[in-house]
Amino acid sequence: MSIYILGIESSCDDTSAAIIKDRKILANLIANQDVHKDFGGVVPELASRAHQQHIIPVIEKAFSLAKINKKQLDAVAFTNGPGLLGSLLVGTSFAKAFALALDIPLITVNHMHAHILALFIEDEAHPSAPPFPFLCLTVSGGHTQIVLVKSHYAMQVIGQTIDDAAGEAFDKSAKIMGLPYPGGPLIDKYAREGNAEAFRFPHPKVPGLDYSFSGLKTSILYFLRDRLKEDTDFINDNIKDLSASIQATIVEILMQKLHLASKQTGIKHIAMAGGVSANSGLRQAFLDQQVAGNWKVYIPKFEYCTDNAAMIAVTGYFKYLKKDFAPQSTTPFTRFQG
Ligand code: KG4
Ligand code: ZN
Repeated sequence: MSIYILGIESSCDDTSAAIIKDRKILANLIANQDVHKDFGGVVPELASRAHQQHIIPVIEKAFSLAKINKKQLDAVAFTNGPGLLGSLLVGTSFAKAFALALDIPLITVNHMHAHILALFIEDEAHPSAPPFPFLCLTVSGGHTQIVLVKSHYAMQVIGQTIDDAAGEAFDKSAKIMGLPYPGGPLIDKYAREGNAEAFRFPHPKVPGLDYSFSGLKTSILYFLRDRLKEDTDFINDNIKDLSASIQATIVEILMQKLHLASKQTGIKHIAMAGGVSANSGLRQAFLDQQVAGNWKVYIPKFEYCTDNAAMIAVTGYFKYLKKDFAPQSTTPFTRFQG
């Protein structure tokens, strides 16, 4: 018999609801929040208020799109961290109330594990899920990790950033260039028409499989400060080349440690996940490795890269199979827990 799960994601600034039938998505809706645009980043209090406004309409729409009745649900899965506490509390409270009212199990989902398990959403266009064990580069606005994935349930972080995340490196570089938040997708857009060799930025020297991105932001800041002294139009005139050069640097840094991780573990099945995996330069760098015969690569469908509830629902499905349910007393957490 099929299992129907409602997934709810509210960890940052997207309110999302999805309904899944086993690993197949019946509906996946996302309400974005425009309120943060003028502030150059997510304002936690505004995010939590916007989640309160969006959550009921988004869930109702998900049910009507999925064409199922609430009574058919087998469980409610929701993100319980990491993320912004006020945002997480909205999804948590809603999920608890819904599960209680329907008398069905409640399932907590770690947002970062869900980004990885998005690779297992059943989709005819993306049929191949990676075999275990595989390595996953998990890159988002708040995290950058190399994860050794041993099963749907056992994941080990073997490298991570010691300061900024890759998404922050994109967003902060964009902010320095005067682009609105979130700047990652805009850098990606400009980079497509720019010359990645135009400018060189230094790579960090961090031991092992860890990353660092805070130095890149500082070097871009000083580089632009000096160029703007000579030419006030420097950014406008060079936005495409700047974007291409910054993107290439971030991609090179990410790929270098991933190669090292592959060499150290002997694993050649390599996946990516998280918002930054929507980046065209990073996707191309992965595909180049596959074409060169070095790796077999796995990239989630574009819409399952950035925050979405489909990945929460599919993680809920795997936890449902293990009867890994949460009590009504469960509370959200803000910082990543392995
Ligand atoms: O996973 P995600 O949607 O949210 C978090 O869990 O943080 O990731 C958001 C991050 C932001 O930093 C955003 O700028 C970045 O992913 N991002 C991109 C692209 N699309 C989203 N960065 C570079 N290129 C993109 N195309
Ligand atoms: Zn995310």
